Amino acid sequence: MGLKDTNLRWSLVGGVVAATLSVERLAMAEVPVVFDPASPSTESIRGLFYFVLAITVVIFLLVGGALAYFIWRFREHQGQADTEPPQIYGSHPIELAWTMAPLITVLVIALVVVRSVLEMRTEAPGDGALRVRVIGHQWWWEYQYPDLDVTTANELVVPLSDGDTPRPVHLELESADVIHSYWVPRLAGKTDLIPGRLNRMEFEPTQLGTYTGQCAEYCGTQHANMLLRVNVVSAADFQSWVADQKKPAVNTESAGQRRFMELACANCHTIRGTRAKGVFGPDLTHLMSRETLASGMVPNDHQNLLDWLLDPQDIKPGCRMPDMRLKPADAELLATYLETLK
Ligand code: CUA
Repeated sequence: MGLKDTNLRWSLVGGVVAATLSVERLAMAEVPVVFDPASPSTESIRGLFYFVLAITVVIFLLVGGALAYFIWRFREHQGQADTEPPQIYGSHPIELAWTMAPLITVLVIALVVVRSVLEMRTEAPGDGALRVRVIGHQWWWEYQYPDLDVTTANELVVPLSDGDTPRPVHLELESADVIHSYWVPRLAGKTDLIPGRLNRMEFEPTQLGTYTGQCAEYCGTQHANMLLRVNVVSAADFQSWVADQKKPAVNTESAGQRRFMELACANCHTIRGTRAKGVFGPDLTHLMSRETLASGMVPNDHQNLLDWLLDPQDIKPGCRMPDMRLKPADAELLATYLETLK
């Protein structure tokens, strides 16, 4: 048995290949990293990390170095009598030294961490902050902009905050079911979304771009595919995005739209300007303004949309969208209709 077993060896190879492929599929954009901050709060988190790392490296070198030196210095010599070294007990200076040194180290680390935590803490939206209500669902994100009357899903769009006109983003985090955790490493630390409780976090996006993240609290089968995307756009682009999002959906009166209303789709999804007013699934009014489907899992293109409609459980096993057993012709009609929702 063991690795000599050809079958076992091949299944290991297969596992590695499958894992690589699925990582490939998920990592559609950048892989989230904590070392490349794009907001003041993540800069401060990185600073903390390096500070604690430096302290622990120094301690490691001191302890490891001393250990290595003593092992070498006091190694057993040929013909040496097997004697015990002198025993020290109750030496006040030594006891004090090895109590105080760790105490001071831990105190320093605690103080700088508490200072950062207090700086990042937010009780209410600051001046000029953009308020966004974030609701965690199994396994997608709902975004409501209460002051702008905009609702969208999975891809948060926020304006750039520059020096002259700081525009922090203030998130009000809630959950519709279980505990989730909001984590976009380049923009902010983690904050949990807890049922029956309102948590807040604030960050100031200072670089344009798309930032990916991940639900950071195990929330069920598709936790790993509860991906996050934040698009930081210029103030002007944000204005035009808001203007587009506020519009009701184009009313096509097409066969596809009729199918959408006849099937169960309309019970779970909202398309503003139509009869579809469901709130269980994501708002689809401007579905085509989003780059991805299934909470960041696959690019939002015709084929993926079609595959998703034909069997959501194939792309995202366990997700709350049932396999409606659509006929291919119906799926095609629906996809064509959804593609008008720009
Ligand atoms: Cu939501 Cu993990």
